[in-house]
Amino acid sequence: MSPSPRHIPWPLLVVHLGAWLPALNLAWHAYTGRLSVNPIQDLTFGTGLPALVLLLLSLAVTPAVTLFGWNWAIPLRRWLGLYAFFYATAHMLIFTVIDYGLDWAELYRQVLEKPYLLAGMGALLLMLPLALTSTKGWQRRLGKAWKDLHRAVYLAAGLAVLHFILLVKADLTEPLIYAGVLAGLLALRLPPLRRRLSAVRQKLRARLLPYRGKPERAGD
Ligand code: HEM
Repeated sequence: MSPSPRHIPWPLLVVHLGAWLPALNLAWHAYTGRLSVNPIQDLTFGTGLPALVLLLLSLAVTPAVTLFGWNWAIPLRRWLGLYAFFYATAHMLIFTVIDYGLDWAELYRQVLEKPYLLAGMGALLLMLPLALTSTKGWQRRLGKAWKDLHRAVYLAAGLAVLHFILLVKADLTEPLIYAGVLAGLLALRLPPLRRRLSAVRQKLRARLLPYRGKPERAGD
């Protein structure tokens, strides 16, 4: 009897499907000739925004576990991070290869001239080792150092938001909303707030589920 196909939990299926949507949408627009008069900007924006959203979603997992006890979301974090890295890399390649044809002298000049590019580069360079060491094997190999290394995601997200803030010339509303979301996600990690939220959840849980259960330890 053939072995049953590997069961993919539906939340992970949603992450895979959701993560591919922006790329499929861009490919479809390119294929049907419906990109704007500035197709390179469409591709740059169409990869930059998903990279940032996916990165923030990966940072939302820990607070979701603390707040709601959603331990099932923990395995999603790695994939959200990897897809963020995928889009950020595509985003960088659109800029360096398609937009500037790997003209290193011109790219160097651009980076010196535009601080937002430096912030974007910093974010991507920090995401690289996180993507490379996202496997269980590396987690085992690095032990405690793995957790320390993966705290770099906070700085990567900060630089990505700064990148967005610095590149916007007029209305800062959108990048500031992302900055607010990031600040909230980081604040929810602060031990005093985390302990308080976890206690609130336990109380709520005890009140809602009238059974005596050992308080759960908030997933990390
Ligand atoms: C070497 C790395 C990077 C380069 C060269 C780069 C380059 C760019 C460029 C040229 C733009 C468009 C600027 C404009 O036309 O006004 C842009 C926009 C953007 N980038 Fe990056 N970027 C990099 C890394 C990143 C990373 C790591 C993220 C997120 C994780 C990111 C997120 C964004 C976002 C959200 C936008 C604005 C999109 C929009 O307005 O819809 N970028 N980037």
